[in-house]
Amino acid sequence: MVTGYVLALSDAEVARYRMMAQRAAEDEADQWAAAGIAAGAVVADVGCGPGAVSAVLAKLVGPQGRVHAVDRDPQALTLARRGAQAEGLSNMDFGEGGADRTGLETESVDVVMLRHVLAHNGGLEQAIVDHLASLVRPGGAVYLVDSEASAMRWYPVQEAAVLVAINERYRQFHAGLGNDLSVGLRLGELLARAGLENVDHQGRYTIVHPPPGMRPPPWAAREQMLTAGAITDSDIATWQTEFERLDQRQTPLTMFVPTFTASARKPS
Ligand SMILES: C[S@@+](CC[C@H](N)C(=O)[O-])C[C@H]1O[C@@H](n2cnc3c(N)ncnc32)[C@H](O)[C@@H]1O
Repeated sequence: MVTGYVLALSDAEVARYRMMAQRAAEDEADQWAAAGIAAGAVVADVGCGPGAVSAVLAKLVGPQGRVHAVDRDPQALTLARRGAQAEGLSNMDFGEGGADRTGLETESVDVVMLRHVLAHNGGLEQAIVDHLASLVRPGGAVYLVDSEASAMRWYPVQEAAVLVAINERYRQFHAGLGNDLSVGLRLGELLARAGLENVDHQGRYTIVHPPPGMRPPPWAAREQMLTAGAITDSDIATWQTEFERLDQRQTPLTMFVPTFTASARKPS
């Protein structure tokens, strides 16, 4: 039986997180600033995974600021801790906790960030956002990021048929777990229902050229999908062959990832 989070962490997967964290820092610089991410800020990165975004945030808030990195997965926290150590970041701490009960103090942080976590928590979305709202001080902001997986696209279209099919199986698998991979569309509503006031709400396609060897999230979920009976060993073998074929392309496929960001402030 499959319960909980389904993406396994591998070196390639961590590299993908780091690449996406760099992209986020570039693409969302204005929105991060509008939410209050600046030198001296105290930021919580909830569902921090291997800490790729947490480390970027720690550099932005600097020695006078602090980043609380929280995840319920001890393996992710170990990787996050190691990453921070490797980069000499001493303004971070790491806590094991659920996104709806982080263990952080009420009204103790300036900004809470939650990236690509809601999609894995069907039915708990509002409870999570309500909890995050409780963590920010008056005037502080909650910043959410999630996607709309049914709008993923690849180019050239005819070469990407296998990726479209894999993505569809992945969406169905998550739907079976009660998860909503279109939750990116609901970020504004979740924040408003938590009693927060809109600061910024945007959507864009993040355009990625995945280097050879980099795999999309369904690959990291393959063992869980197999256990759930959502795919077979033969599907995995076919996916592997297709990924290896795509790795041989002279220029990588272009991947278009729908990305929604929304931040909202607690009234002062
Ligand atoms: C897709 S990863 C995103 C990691 C990071 N936020 C980023 O964007 O690079 C989702 C992470 O959220 C964590 N997660 C999922 N649901 C959670 C929950 N209810 N409480 C705490 N962590 C959760 C998983 O363990 C995983 O590390």
